[in-house]
Amino acid sequence: MNGGVPLVKNICCIGAGYVGGPTMAVIAAKCPEITINVVDVNQKRVSDWNSEDLANLPIYEPGLSEIIEIARNRNLFFSNEIAKKISEADMVFISVNTPTKTKGLGAGLASDLRWVESCARQVAEFAKERTIVVEKSTLPVRTAQVIKSILDSSTSKIDQDKKIKSFSVLSNPEFLSEGTAIDDLEFPDRVLIGGEDKLAIEALTNIYLNWVPKTKIITTNLWSSELSKLIANAFLAQRVSSINSVSAICEATGADVREVADAVGMDSRIGRNFLNTGPGFGGSCFKKDILNLVYICKYLGLEEVANYWEKVVEINTWQKKRISQKIVQNLFGTVAGKKIALLGYAFKANTNDTRETPAKTIAEDLIEEGAILAIHDPKVDVVNIQNDLGPEYKGIDYYQVNNGVWSYYDVIEEAVKGADAIIILTDWDIYRRINWDKITSLMRYPAWIFDTRLVINKENLNNNNLNLWQLGTTN
Ligand code: UDX
Ligand code: ADP
Repeated sequence: MNGGVPLVKNICCIGAGYVGGPTMAVIAAKCPEITINVVDVNQKRVSDWNSEDLANLPIYEPGLSEIIEIARNRNLFFSNEIAKKISEADMVFISVNTPTKTKGLGAGLASDLRWVESCARQVAEFAKERTIVVEKSTLPVRTAQVIKSILDSSTSKIDQDKKIKSFSVLSNPEFLSEGTAIDDLEFPDRVLIGGEDKLAIEALTNIYLNWVPKTKIITTNLWSSELSKLIANAFLAQRVSSINSVSAICEATGADVREVADAVGMDSRIGRNFLNTGPGFGGSCFKKDILNLVYICKYLGLEEVANYWEKVVEINTWQKKRISQKIVQNLFGTVAGKKIALLGYAFKANTNDTRETPAKTIAEDLIEEGAILAIHDPKVDVVNIQNDLGPEYKGIDYYQVNNGVWSYYDVIEEAVKGADAIIILTDWDIYRRINWDKITSLMRYPAWIFDTRLVINKENLNNNNLNLWQLGTTN
């Protein structure tokens, strides 16, 4: 203790996912004197985190394996010993999944808090005398209240040393973006800590001060912190939907969406970030958080506000549909029995994450229309595609199949061979570096490229027989 501020020596993080794993790895690297245990119910995930071969870590994130190599088994440990590690911790981070509810009250909009609730119950049962509980997962506003009620119902209980338990709940939302998670964690724009217990806030602040300047650490009340996370994601998603709506206007008018984005983005009040048009936003957060915001607004009787934010998701759905329709229309109104190479299945570059990826919706539409999809992605595990699209087609005689199917290819050339069209859905760097004249010579003609990420520089394309469609342009 330092003037009553608890000194955190042992952290337990519940949830070894895309948020918990990288976040704890960076804290462990920056604070070697703190022991950090990341626990998860998923045995396979834990053993993947402990894998000798760093290529087998459960998530791909640039810079992550280097940090894991330094900190793992020094002061960073992954295990399934949830109860034990909670009981040893001064501070517990809750970093579990909070997907949209699929059934019951609020289905399709509200977040499913069953995993958060179960964590709170485990903390209530196993924590020691004084524990600071930190919400890391993105949560609906006032979730801290739920966590508090569960914890408070156990505060009359005593821990294993016969001391009365007490808890402080803080909200410390994570703003990391996949693909740049390590950079975002090491050099955050801000660290937000919401709470009422000043000493607990200071304890958490002291951890971040090991590498984050004080001016970047802001403190608010609990509800502002929880709401700020939802609103940050809603604003970012809104920019993507805005530029995607503009992409359609550009195609209809002869404007070029890149030029419009540059011209508009040079206004310092607007800025150029998050104005890249694409096949629609994916990832685990944007849609879930906006729907959650919509649910909260409806609950609060703010119908107009709910409708406003709901439009951001509607435009996103429309953009994906619009792209699959464009492909079918341009391929003479039918893709049945046609081979289409789909380049990029991850929801964005530099991640193996496929949650809410626009590629899933577009692939489903094309398979429904009878296409033979040849999917390539440099990092996505084929199992994830299988979970989305059903069994992979292992046949060889493509053109005799009546129903749409998909297959996975490691090599771009193999995916493209004999294809009538290529669709680029993820902005992986390797797709920017493709020699298009060479690759397109492998296709069946007339051939099309549908570039939804604007990775192709038209100037470098000398194949006059090729049809190029680029989102938000008249190419
Ligand atoms: C997001 C938030 O950025 C992050 O702060 C939060 O903690 C979690 O949610 P993430 O989902 O990892 O992060 O990815 P992000 O970079 O925000 O991209 C989301 C989606 O929007 C991707 O599908 C991406 O391709 C798309 N996008 C983004 C665009 O289409 N155009 C852009 O200009 C930016
Ligand atoms: P995020 O992107 O928010 O990190 P993930 O789904 O990648 O979400 O990770 C959440 C992790 O939390 C999963 O690995 C899941 O197994 C784990 N988890 C969920 N509930 C619990 C729980 N009660 N105890 C321990 N781990 C849990």
